[in-house]
This record gives sequence, C-alpha cells and structure tokens, in this order.
Amino acid sequence: MPNAPLLAPSLLAGDHGALAASAQVAAEAGAPWLHLDIMDGHFVPNLSFGPETLAALRRAGLKTFFDTHLMLSEPHRYADAFAKAGANLISIHIEPAYDHRATLARIRALGCQCGIVLNPGTPASAIEPLLDAVDLVLVMTVQPGFGGQPFRADMLPKLREIDGWRRSRGLNFRLEVDGGIDLGTAAQCRAAGTDTFVAGTSFFKASDQAAFAAAMAAL
Ligand code: DX5
Ligand code: ZN
Repeated sequence: MPNAPLLAPSLLAGDHGALAASAQVAAEAGAPWLHLDIMDGHFVPNLSFGPETLAALRRAGLKTFFDTHLMLSEPHRYADAFAKAGANLISIHIEPAYDHRATLARIRALGCQCGIVLNPGTPASAIEPLLDAVDLVLVMTVQPGFGGQPFRADMLPKLREIDGWRRSRGLNFRLEVDGGIDLGTAAQCRAAGTDTFVAGTSFFKASDQAAFAAAMAAL
C-alpha cells in the first residue's frame, strides 16, 4: 500500500518580510507539512534562515509539521538547535563528510523524524546503506540553493530505484522530491514512487492555493 501523497510548501518562496503570514497561508490551504530550507552560504551558495525563525513561527501559533531541510556543510552541529526550535523532521545531506548514521540517530534521540538528502549528481547507491535508519529520503530534483529552477526529469530513474529498494526490503520511509515541482512534474514523480512533494514557487504563485493543495493530495 503506497503512502498517501503529501504536500510540503517551501517557505523559501514565501514573503521573507512576513514569514509567519506565508506559513499561515500554507496551513490554511490545507498543506499538512511546511518545508523549511536552511542554507549556510557554504554547502550551497545562498543564505536563508535559522533556528530562531522556526521558533518564531511556533510562537506565532503555527502548528504545522516542520519539514526541515538542512543544506549545511556541518549539519551535525545544528540538529539540537533545530529540534529545540520546533522541527518535526530534520533532513541532512549525504555529500559532506561527517558521521551520517550518528547524526540521524541523534535527530531521532531528540524526538524528531530524520531524513537523508541526495543532490542531483549523487547516485542512489550513496544512501542505500542508510535506508534502515531514516524516516524520509529526499531526492533533489534541482541543484539546491535557489527556488524557481526547472525540474530535472533525469532524476526519475533514481526515484524508481529507491522506491524499488523500499518495496523489496519492506521499508516504509517517505520518498520526497524538492525542486521544480508543480502539478505536472509531481504526477511524474508520483508514478515513480514519490509520496511527498515540496513546492515553493508553484504553490505560492498558484491563484487558488487550496485547490493546488487538494490536487496534490489527489495525485
Ligand atoms: C532549493 C530548495 C527548495 C526550493 C524549491 O534549494 O531546497 O526547497 O525552495 O523551490 P521551487 O519549488 O521553487 O523549485
Ligand atoms: Zn528544500
């Protein structure tokens, strides 16, 4: 039985002068998750926001599930801070050198779900040994760092490969895509086994965000 489709609007495409209001728009549209892109200007060539932003969103009354995507060279140094700030799930990239398994275990010990992320250039085999230790695998469908980039259809075989491992091993981690996702590209990813869809630009630019969220939930 495949996991139900789930939408995670990316706050990166919201109004950075009124992030709580943008997060509220996503919640009121019916999106169950909120995707929070954390950038350090080193692992990716851009900066976004930090744990204090998550804490402020919680203080503003946001009850949404916080899907926190750490694009950091040293994510192991920040897991505690994001858990304390209100993250529900913390995803870390496989590419930098640090103890991935220990960091995933630490995230769970902090009471959060944990995810592992791969850049477009990273083969699925890089994360294959960690599949038993994660709640989510995030396949980047753009090079991370910026919203608004075109979807990379060449990531579809990678999704099918990871979904195949999930089925053959009887695992039930979520399989998420991030980058260039709209209703059309989401449908392609759904057919390849994806159940969790990050959407920044397409969600915040949609004329009817509730209709967009409903269409995603029906994929
Ligand atoms: C890219 C981020 C994405 C980004 C997606 O580095 O990880 O979450 O916000 O934006 P769109 O949906 O506009 O491609
Ligand atoms: Zn992201």
